[in-house]
Amino acid sequence: MAVIGVMDSGSGGLSVLREIRKVLPEASYIYYADNANCPYGTKSREFILQRCHSICELLLSRGADAIVIACNTATAVAISSLREKYDVPFVGMEPAVKPAAMGTQSGVIGVLATAGTLSASKYLDMKDRYSDGVEVVEHVGEGFVELVERGVLSGPEAEKTCAASLMPLLEKGADIIVLGCTHYPFLRPVMEKICAERGYRGVRFIDPAPAVARRLIQVLEEKGIGDKSGVAACPVPGSVELLSSGPREVLEYLYSK
Ligand code: DGL
Repeated sequence: MAVIGVMDSGSGGLSVLREIRKVLPEASYIYYADNANCPYGTKSREFILQRCHSICELLLSRGADAIVIACNTATAVAISSLREKYDVPFVGMEPAVKPAAMGTQSGVIGVLATAGTLSASKYLDMKDRYSDGVEVVEHVGEGFVELVERGVLSGPEAEKTCAASLMPLLEKGADIIVLGCTHYPFLRPVMEKICAERGYRGVRFIDPAPAVARRLIQVLEEKGIGDKSGVAACPVPGSVELLSSGPREVLEYLYSK
């Protein structure tokens, strides 16, 4: 089985790692949280590019056979340049506009993401392509990444912060909310509580992580990585190594969730 490198600006990508491990339990994983530099959403393109390249070099030096960029912001900025430079497969994140547009009953979908993702050409192109006949309303999840990085996933502060960005989408009639940042699934229970308490029943949240996990399997199969011929020998099947550029407490707490 393969060694899979996973990176994010912080702990958010653990929501993707969780889904990947469900479908590839025997791979071994190296997760890098760049939490000393989180959030990426407010950083320059050059800075994000430079961080992504040095983190991927570290993951490759530790034997990664494939790398998941478990961050929408980093994917939008850096995945093309990473693919050009390194000879391993990369799988990235994309807000799930297509399934949301196909599934909406109200004709309105909401997208919650960082400012960086919402202004990226990758997202704008995808929205153009898949949202024909559907109204797309967007909002930055203001303060969401910071809450998750502090490990605050419930309680009055989390509810107030989430409501401020979620309510404008619900008030415009969105019945499907796309979680366009990998930190946001950690706040999904709070958002579901807000919907239930304020009478927005039947609202669904879409997290692209399960689709990313399926895509990773496809890519590994296409490249013959980790197949029975033993192209990639995984030292400790199922192991997860957590690396970070900053404090580890919240990272370990969220990993255990
Ligand atoms: N998890 C990152 C994403 O999916 C967080 C963004 C940030 O660091 O600003 O975009």
